[in-house]
Amino acid sequence: MGHRAAIVGAGHTRFGVLDAGPRELLRTATRAAFESVDRGVEGREVGELFLTTIGFGGWQIGNVAAVLAEETGVVGVPTSRIENACASGGFGLRAAVRSVESGAADLALVVGLEKMTDLASPRRRYWLGVSGDTEWERAAGLTFAGVYGLIASRYLAEHGVGREALAEVAVKNHANGARNPNAQFQKVVARETVLGAPRVADPLGLYDCCPVSDGAAAVLVARAELARKYTDSPVYIDGVGAGSDHLAVQERPELTRFAASRRAADEALRSAGVDRSAISFLEVHDCFTIAELLAIEDLGFAAPGEAARLTLEGATRPDGRLPVNPDGGLKAKGHPIGATGVSQAYEAFLQLRGAAGPRQIPGAALALLHNVGGAGATAAVTICSGG
Ligand code: COA
Repeated sequence: MGHRAAIVGAGHTRFGVLDAGPRELLRTATRAAFESVDRGVEGREVGELFLTTIGFGGWQIGNVAAVLAEETGVVGVPTSRIENACASGGFGLRAAVRSVESGAADLALVVGLEKMTDLASPRRRYWLGVSGDTEWERAAGLTFAGVYGLIASRYLAEHGVGREALAEVAVKNHANGARNPNAQFQKVVARETVLGAPRVADPLGLYDCCPVSDGAAAVLVARAELARKYTDSPVYIDGVGAGSDHLAVQERPELTRFAASRRAADEALRSAGVDRSAISFLEVHDCFTIAELLAIEDLGFAAPGEAARLTLEGATRPDGRLPVNPDGGLKAKGHPIGATGVSQAYEAFLQLRGAAGPRQIPGAALALLHNVGGAGATAAVTICSGG
């Protein structure tokens, strides 16, 4: 199959604990995306808008997509909010591809945004928690760290693996984040620090968790045939895939595999006509270190239990044979929920144009982006190639 759409511009704010409110974050990322278009672009060329967010930090919960139209000045065209918890951004990207593929728009703007740090801790826990199963799991007091802690315990026991494999994910992603000026944490951490940190939900410690973050990312997605009107180096989107599963993990046959990720990857790779062996690097949803191991396996890059070995061998480092999360991942770059999937597309935009600076993966030609909602209830996968 040929190209389905093209990213012709991308912008990003710093991720972290920020003073800026949601409207300012949204404006900053969007302006940067517009300014990054090599041959320029006018707001009136945008035919559809998508805002991916779970709730704008409690500032504006309903009809929030209208704020995107207002803040970008692109008032008048269809604007929608896509909300699939932490997978909102990946699903927004998919919606933009569908929009330009169908001819509904020639150019679509996707902005992912979250403002999390101004919520007090109990409210934030509630606010995040309602993206999981609220009938049983939340009622029993399970947070996302709690659910992933259970999954991690099971994985370690099933495969006879130690916490060192989880720690290695954190060490690598912190090292990658140290080379990303937009990352929340730009510092390397030692394995002993990770292993000795306070436990959050056994066996997961502080460094096994993504942080709570503010931030925004934006991408401009054009019809593939129009890409070169905007730039000589577009990043093409060749495949998209998505899947879902029971919201409650207790309803699933297995704790340590996310069927939604597998389905999304199979569909995306099939529609792109790409073999896994051709992929240069992965951007995966490492909301907790265990999630990176599951992702590598669910996406079909390792057999069950093998991702731990690959990680310990260094295969997922930037100079390894399967680099994973060169931007620091959710772990070090941060995880402003609705922004994460769009931020992955921003990384693909840099890497596949050879513009990722000190974290550039030499010869990067094909990227697989993987975004998960909650503990595997929704998943979106995108395949991108360099022009
Ligand atoms: N990794 C590394 N360091 C972290 C961190 C993380 N995930 N979270 C916080 N820190 C650091 C802070 O920078 C701060 O460092 P400092 O003292 O040098 O300034 C210190 O730890 C304390 O920060 P604080 O914000 O008080 O931590 P906390 O105990 O309130 O929260 C977690 C820590 C792990 C509980 C919180 O980040 C969390 O809930 N993460 C998961 C979010 C989530 O569930 N997202 C959805 C995923 S599906």
